[in-house]
Amino acid sequence: MKFIVVSFILGILMSCNQSSTTSIEESSQQQSIRDLLELPAHISAPAVPEYNPLTAEKIALGRFLFYDKNLSANQTQSCSSCHFQALAFSDAVETPFGSTGHQLTRNSQSLSNVVYHSTFTWSNNGFLELEDQLNVPIRADNPIELGVTDPHIDDVLARFDSDPDYVKMFTAAFPDSETGASINKVIFSLASFLRTMISADSAYDQYLLGDTTALTEQQKWGFSLFNGEKFECFHCHTGINFSVSYRDSNTTEGTIQYPFFNNGLYNVDGQGSYPAEDQGLYDLTLDLADRGMFRPQSLRNIELTAPYMHDGSIATLREVIEHYARGGRLIENGPNAGDGNLSPLKSGLILPFVATDEEIDAVIAFLESLTDYKFINNPKFSDPFEE
Ligand code: HEC
Ligand code: HEC
Repeated sequence: MKFIVVSFILGILMSCNQSSTTSIEESSQQQSIRDLLELPAHISAPAVPEYNPLTAEKIALGRFLFYDKNLSANQTQSCSSCHFQALAFSDAVETPFGSTGHQLTRNSQSLSNVVYHSTFTWSNNGFLELEDQLNVPIRADNPIELGVTDPHIDDVLARFDSDPDYVKMFTAAFPDSETGASINKVIFSLASFLRTMISADSAYDQYLLGDTTALTEQQKWGFSLFNGEKFECFHCHTGINFSVSYRDSNTTEGTIQYPFFNNGLYNVDGQGSYPAEDQGLYDLTLDLADRGMFRPQSLRNIELTAPYMHDGSIATLREVIEHYARGGRLIENGPNAGDGNLSPLKSGLILPFVATDEEIDAVIAFLESLTDYKFINNPKFSDPFEE
């Protein structure tokens, strides 16, 4: 699968910050981000690009845009058509349909703590900021999501320019630029809203903050299995966001990791290939070794985001763990038949192991402790048109 993205230059709004930032300025910036996001003590401030400082006004506008079907060319879909708050901003389908009825090849991602990933989407080493990624759902023409392709841009923006409430919000969010909506302003506001989607109030967080009773004994056991050398999960799903694809405002440029792994889901030709419609990073790099390379997902709210994997091809957490315990998935029949355990391209960390039902139950119970009910009910992220 390939997203053919219309070429796009982050031109107009990018004003370089010439002044060299001192560490005092830096920490006061971090503090203002912490305040805006109401971050709890155990969560670091996210990285925010200098060209799009976080403001309450952009966040407020972004929230409206996220829920507004006027942001699709044919006015049938909004971001929230595939990203539902009740499901931690995923949907419940294997792969969704775009606004014109095209079925996408990838599963809709959860957006909880999305800002902490070092790259965006299931597999793209070029999307290093949310601002880069957002062109895809809005502008892509293959497959079409919201379908705001070149011939439709003016119509879509005119909808916002002719609505006095939006005119006010755009002016408040971008006081220093020409009035009126633009695709860049839309993207900058949506990115700002996405950066506020912090999920840090699960039972696991309470436990981290010192409440030793917040996890059951079974969940604590599951946590230690998850972090042990038999299950090996932590090698790729670690840290506060349970992904080695991680970055925050303290991560220095040279130390950011951009990890992608083949976790043995497919091996259709015995050489490690994935189904032709989506070979992961390979589709961008054309390097054969990149077949099946995907970003390790955050496991925050994972109980709510089934079905799993980049194509939604695993239905339950139990089956996910069974897949890992087997050292890769065996597909016996059909066009995708093959044994992932024998894939020459799967990561060396994906090795078969024997787990009892009780151990698997415990790991699932631990994963369920990452469900954050406050996040999925937080009015800050809800549909503003329903207020
Ligand atoms: C038709 C369904 C659909 C719509 C509409 C949609 N998305 Fe998505 N979203 C997806 C899918 C599928 C992916 C995974 C894409 C990939 O891996 O290539 C995704 C991925 C993302 C990601 C990357 C998450 C991560 O962890 O890296 C962000 C951010 C995102 N969407 C935000 C939005 C926003 C904002 C909108 C509205 C402008 C939107 N989406 C509209 C289906 C959709
Ligand atoms: C070698 C790195 C690696 C290891 C080890 C690993 N994972 Fe993963 N995990 C990934 C990658 C990469 C993906 C996405 C793969 C894809 O979609 O094709 C993933 C996906 C997942 C998903 C689905 C996420 C979603 O949103 O659909 C779950 C759940 C998961 N892993 C749990 C685990 C558990 C539990 C363990 C330990 C038994 C584990 N992982 C071990 C790399 C790893």
